Amino acid sequence: MGHVLVTGATGGIGTALVRGLVRAGHQVTAVGRDVGRLDVHGIEADLAEPGTLAAALGELGDVHALIHCAGISPIAAVADGDPDTWERTLAVNVTSAAELVRLTLPALRRSRGHVIFVNASPGMTGVARWSAFVGSKAALRELADSLREEEAAHGVRVTTVYPAATATELLRGVRSTFGRPYDPDRCIRPETLAQMVVWALSAPADAYVSELSVLPTPR
Ligand SMILES: NC(=O)c1ccc[n+]([C@@H]2O[C@H](COP(=O)([O-])OP(=O)(O)OC[C@H]3O[C@@H](n4cnc5c(N)ncnc54)[C@H](OP(=O)(O)O)[C@@H]3O)[C@@H](O)[C@H]2O)c1
Repeated sequence: MGHVLVTGATGGIGTALVRGLVRAGHQVTAVGRDVGRLDVHGIEADLAEPGTLAAALGELGDVHALIHCAGISPIAAVADGDPDTWERTLAVNVTSAAELVRLTLPALRRSRGHVIFVNASPGMTGVARWSAFVGSKAALRELADSLREEEAAHGVRVTTVYPAATATELLRGVRSTFGRPYDPDRCIRPETLAQMVVWALSAPADAYVSELSVLPTPR
């Protein structure tokens, strides 16, 4: 148990995650645009502007874990895209993750802490009309793997979580834009995914889960 910094805390998965962390006895700080909506301490920051994060975070004190759960998922063919969409998606999904790691690393090294990135189902590579999203998640995976090697000497653990369809408004919107059916009962419940992330954080000192792929049980 310790102090956990969480992004995406106002979202479907993040809300469940914050509840699960608090229930497990962690102290939670949420980093996001509208953290006043949550019952935990918040730091207001726009992850689309990674360059502003250092000033927003300030002095953090002890940090035992960082969980980057924020993400955006625009849908557009490359032919219809624009630089702004690419920049925004990469900023929220990847660059801000790297910057938050950089800013919390001194504390994470002291605590021999844990970084968890919420990625997306690993099968989702090369999806038509989803290049910015899947490209950003591929970059997030590589960031995790590089970071794991870099920080091994400091005892910092790095975990990538790969959830498949999870019942949130984000998924409802994605499915609707793709013209695919959305049945929340066939998806992972956000609370279940949150429970698994909290479990990953609770690993004993001698081992941990580096990758966690989560699928809904077939119904
Ligand atoms: N749902 C799924 O099926 C699924 C599957 C695989 C992976 N994932 C991943 O899981 C994560 C959470 O997904 P979700 O379904 O819970 O999505 P969600 O409900 O849309 O939540 C997204 C979160 O990201 C935050 N965010 C977006 N842009 C931001 C910005 N510029 N600055 C700060 N925060 C920002 C949102 O904050 P605001 O409230 O301020 O918008 C919100 O808290 C994402 O990384 C997503 O890719 C989801």
